[in-house]
Amino acid sequence: MKQIYDNVYEFTHPLVQHKLTMLRMKETGTNEFRKIVEELGMLMGYEALADLKTEDIEIETPIEKCKAPVLAGRKLAVVPILRAGLGLVPGVLSLVPSAKVGHIGMYRDEVTHEPHEYFCKLPSPIEERVIVVTDPMLATGGSAVDAINLIKNKGGKKIKFICMIAAPEGVKKLHEAHPDVQVYIGHIDRELNENAYICPGLGDAGDRIFGTK
Ligand code: PRP
Ligand code: URA
Repeated sequence: MKQIYDNVYEFTHPLVQHKLTMLRMKETGTNEFRKIVEELGMLMGYEALADLKTEDIEIETPIEKCKAPVLAGRKLAVVPILRAGLGLVPGVLSLVPSAKVGHIGMYRDEVTHEPHEYFCKLPSPIEERVIVVTDPMLATGGSAVDAINLIKNKGGKKIKFICMIAAPEGVKKLHEAHPDVQVYIGHIDRELNENAYICPGLGDAGDRIFGTK
């Protein structure tokens, strides 16, 4: 992992980079695309959750009694930013099947590129949970910043953000707005184009996951 800012990390793992290349290829179809996004949810979630607290409990193995660690304390919530964030959820849930799932609906205006919220339902109580926000793409950063504002306004405190591909502008904006949020990025690409799409990127993540357009 490469540290970009305090609390902001970019993956260098070859498996993550290989899978991102498969996603970038325009001939990768919906089925394969969705499968790889799910795998990245697991690989990136694994790293993002490396600081979860554990506590020792007494157990008995077939050999003897011992103390062994289990996940402790704060419960987990996974919060995808709709639609595309949904693609990463199964991978994170495969690591922590008992996690609750919230949803935040955001769409970007095609002309202004400003995010608009259309749905928000979070598990309660949200205050005590470690919250993993998922969205494959961090472009201008507007959607992620607003989604995290919403979570904080509802009481969320310990927030992590996972995305597959980011533009440098979006990374800076998210970090400046929410320096306390731990951000895990698969790869930081070159720039945004005039339509605020990430270059080289992978196109429209929601359309490629759900086969729309
Ligand atoms: C995409 C993506 C992010 C957002 C990123 O969603 O999944 O949520 O754009 O752009 P930003 O950083 O400039 O805000 P989109 O609005 O296309 O909605 P969708 O997931 O429903 O396709
Ligand atoms: N949303 C996407 O899905 N792709 C981009 O490149 C930018 C925003």
